[in-house]
Amino acid sequence: MYNDNPTLLNLNKNIDESKQGEAITGVVPINDNGKKFYIESYGCQMNFSDSEIVASILAEEGFGATRNMEVADLILINTCSIREKAEDTVRKRLRIFDKLKKQNPGMLVGVLGCMAERLKAKFLDEEKLVDIVVGPDAYRDLPKLIAGAEDGDKGVNVLLSREETYADISPLRLDSNGVSGFISIMRGCDNMCSFCVVPFTRGRERSRNPFTIVAEAQDLFDRGYREVTLLGQNVDSFKWENPETKELTTFAKLLEMVAHVSPLLRIRFSTSHPKDITDEVLFTMAKYKNICKYIHLPVQSGNSRVLELMNRTYDRPWYKSKIDRIYEIMPDCAISSDVITGFCTETEEEHQDTLSMVEYAQYSMSYMFFYSERPGTLAARKYEDDIPLEVKKRRLTEVIRLQNQISHELNAKDIGKTFEVLIEGDSKKSDLDFKGRNSQNKQIVFPKKAGLKPGDYTYVKVKASTSATLMGDIVEMPLN
Ligand code: SAH
Ligand code: SF4
Ligand code: F3S
Repeated sequence: MYNDNPTLLNLNKNIDESKQGEAITGVVPINDNGKKFYIESYGCQMNFSDSEIVASILAEEGFGATRNMEVADLILINTCSIREKAEDTVRKRLRIFDKLKKQNPGMLVGVLGCMAERLKAKFLDEEKLVDIVVGPDAYRDLPKLIAGAEDGDKGVNVLLSREETYADISPLRLDSNGVSGFISIMRGCDNMCSFCVVPFTRGRERSRNPFTIVAEAQDLFDRGYREVTLLGQNVDSFKWENPETKELTTFAKLLEMVAHVSPLLRIRFSTSHPKDITDEVLFTMAKYKNICKYIHLPVQSGNSRVLELMNRTYDRPWYKSKIDRIYEIMPDCAISSDVITGFCTETEEEHQDTLSMVEYAQYSMSYMFFYSERPGTLAARKYEDDIPLEVKKRRLTEVIRLQNQISHELNAKDIGKTFEVLIEGDSKKSDLDFKGRNSQNKQIVFPKKAGLKPGDYTYVKVKASTSATLMGDIVEMPLN
């Protein structure tokens, strides 16, 4: 996840944008063709997961991966369209690839992902250096399009599919920390929130065969992974019908199936749409210790009229009752959110409702954005983007300040508590310290102890905190 409001970066310590633009490396080609690809990814975790599927498809074709774009035969950029800023970043990267291509004319450049889907063949006219444009459902066609481009034919495939889930493709995860892995459980979105471009770029919602999901989780566990995050734009509407038995698998059932892989495998999921998360899901979370007590439940706005304009299909009282229900069933659950400020026609009073909702829900953290109109969305067609940029930004600053204060207070309350922590690796600041997370998804930093390594569980007693991190020491036994 990331923040693309650079003016506010210093205020917004909760958002880790270090992953944006990260390149995959270490792919071992099958039947080495002597060629190398370089891939950069932007946007949500699902896009990063897709890049791992693309890496797998290219390895089959004999491509190896490189982190050095200057030696690449093929440069791919997996793009995001969610806000204007995300698209601007990609255009800037294309200018850099352009320079490189002038030095190395044989090199091919491909645009993948949501921007490819949104702009389609127009890309080839707008950006002369681009050789191939491939939408999120067409990655199996990459080898053919690359071969065509090598012969000088620019290629486009942006067909969206009702079936494609890449269920049979084993993603290449060579850049991960070897402890936490992501599994796409569904694709697309049918919700049509009026501000959002995703239904247009990712197409119709479809769920993946749950048995392939469990097999992927088992495979990761067997390879030493200790945490999987199940990914989808709206995981709670996961629904799969067995074509033979007609038996339905709901998201709650899927969670249970994955929880049974091993008590040592932690399960997380993202994103939950407030309208679809059921009691059955909450009770399943409560029942299994290895399903993490953390829900990302984006509110977007705290005001019922704005929520209606956003087409979120819930209102303020309904969302509040969902928050109450979560804390009632799991008092130790952490909840996080996404917030948009300055949506069309939002008044100051309505903005205050968002602030009071952030306060009410006691989010552990939030991803916060100002509204960015996206061409083709319902909001762009129906409503005027009438809130001045300075007002949007000022409201955003207010939400960020409040969220940071709440995160700070909540983290301070954790001082003295002992948590089970899954060790992920060295802390950013010191290789004398480990970093890991507790069930509530809070990052904890603590001095290393001989014999422990990434992938192990340990108990850590918290002794200090900031708004983003807990600091503590390993203790032998859970003390609370
Ligand atoms: N499927 C998820 C969200 C995916 S997009 C959900 O429904 O919660 C991630 C976040 O980007 C959204 O939750 C929203 O807060 C933000 N976002 C989406 N479109 C936006 C826009 N046009 N302007 C600003 N923020 C936007
Ligand atoms: Fe976009 Fe709404 Fe779908 Fe989330 S649920 S991806 S915000 S349309
Ligand atoms: Fe961006 Fe597409 Fe994800 S628009 S947020 S990469 S689904």
